[in-house]
Order: sequence, then structure tokens, then C-alpha cells
Amino acid sequence: MTGLAIDVRGLTKRFGERAVVDNVDLQVGEGRICGFLGPNGSGKTTTIRMLCGLLKPDAGEGTCLGLDVIRQAREIKRQAGYMTQKFGWYEDLSIRENLDFIARLFEIPNRAQAVNSALQRLGLVERQDQLAGSLSGGWKQRLALAGCLIHNPRLLLLDEPTAGVDPKARREFWDQIHRLAGEGITVLVSTHYMDEAARCHELVYIAYGKVLAHGSESEIVEQAGLAPGASLEEVFVKLIDRAQDNFAAPPKAAKFAKGGRP
Ligand SMILES: Nc1ncnc2c1ncn2[C@@H]1O[C@H](COP(=O)(O)OP(=O)(O)O)[C@@H](O)[C@H]1O
Ligand SMILES: [Mg+2]
Repeated sequence: MTGLAIDVRGLTKRFGERAVVDNVDLQVGEGRICGFLGPNGSGKTTTIRMLCGLLKPDAGEGTCLGLDVIRQAREIKRQAGYMTQKFGWYEDLSIRENLDFIARLFEIPNRAQAVNSALQRLGLVERQDQLAGSLSGGWKQRLALAGCLIHNPRLLLLDEPTAGVDPKARREFWDQIHRLAGEGITVLVSTHYMDEAARCHELVYIAYGKVLAHGSESEIVEQAGLAPGASLEEVFVKLIDRAQDNFAAPPKAAKFAKGGRP
């Protein structure tokens, strides 16, 4: 491997006429935590699904974990951990039973050991017999993360993993992400929370399917054309304003043509 866990160029996905991911280049080094930011509908989930081998790009090339994103998608699916925006667990199964079920899906040879290891890594040993349906939001997210780790992935793609989770649980979740990165796991994580963005090693900002900035906090401040010390909020407002000018579709004239109110 090149030292890059993600290394793609020109990644593009069209739905109908519209490119919802448009010529995206992305390189993320091993063991890095890369925050993936952008407004709703900007193409984050679609990008993540192409990176983990679930969705075939219409154009572009590159590798995840050294595997070709087009030709080796199946292998990437097996080696990367993907946490969807709405992770599904069985409410009437315990934490342990849920993890055991996922281990079966991945056809993991030594299931009990894999489940025990995931329970330990996420601090779930004492709660392993608790029903998933009875867990608070924060513990459910931890179960979801444990599920992503069961097959020992070296790359985690986390899609808004802490949406709707309280601040304390979010902080603990992020402590966990940092521990995993410390073990050499690469993490691409989408979020709308600025405090979480601040805990990433690097940030990618996307809108209209295009990468608008990528780098450390100070680098993206510079890319946004702001003075050093500008906040991440200021950066994003600036980037999205600029993107609106450059990429937003013009308002539909027809709507206003008959003199009616819009
Ligand atoms: N399967 C699909 N078919 C058609 N349009 C889609 C599909 N999936 C996503 N889209 C559209 O692509 C755009 C980007 O969506 P998405 O990648 O989910 O953005 P984000 O995760 O940043 O909110 C949105 O406008 C969405 O409606
Ligand atoms: Mg999304």
C-alpha cells in the first residue's frame, strides 16, 4: 500500500442527468481521522457508499486499502467497516446476539472470539446481555460501532454516526474513534457538529458534489480565503456562499413568469 487508505480521483456518480458526486479527488493517509462535511444533499453518503464498494462509480478510479474501487469492490466491502446513517439492529436481541448475528453475516470463522473482542474494544462487556431496544442513543451508537469492527477493518466509513446523540455520549464516541485511529485504523466520518470537526486530523468540505476544501483546520481557513484564526463556522459559510455563486442552478424563471407569487 502507498500509505494512503483512501486514494481516489475523479469519482463521479450520476442519478439521471445530475452528477450528485462530481469529479471528487480524495486522499486520506493511514491512521488519519478525516472529517467529511457539507450541507444535506451535498453527496457525502453517495461518496461514502462508492468508497466502501456498495455503489459503482460512473467515472473515476483509485483504491481503498490498496484495493481497486471498481474491480475489487467486493473485497473492499469485506475489509472496510461502514456505519450507515440509520444503523439497523434488532431491538429484541441483546447486544451480544446482535454482534453474533453480524459475525455470521460476515462468515467470521472464530465468531465467539470476534464478538468478545468487539465487546471489549467498545466497553460493552458488562451490558452484553441487555436488549438493544432498551439502550440509550449513545449506547446504540456504540453497539453500531462495535458491529462495524467485528471483522477487524482497517478503514472505517462512518456516516453521521452521532446524529441526535447527547453531547456526553458524542464525546465518548469520539474518544473511541481516537483510540481506534491510534491502533492504525483510518476513519472517514461525516458530521454536522463543529466540535467534532475540530477533533479531526483533517477536513474535507463538499457541496454540490464537489470538494471545496481539504486539509487541516488552518489549511482550510486559508483555502476559504479567510484570515488565520477564523472559526470553522466562518469557513463553511464562506465556502458554501462561494459554491452557491459558482454551482447553484439558476432559479426557475417559469415559476415567476405569470406574475404570480413564487
Ligand atoms: N438512489 C438515488 N437516486 C436518486 N437520487 C439520489 C439517490 N441517492 C441520493 N440521491 C440524491 O443525491 C444527492 C446527494 O445525496 P447524499 O449523497 O445522500 O447527500 P448527503 O449525504 O450529503 O446528504 C441528493 O440530492 C439526493 O437526493
Ligand atoms: Mg447523508
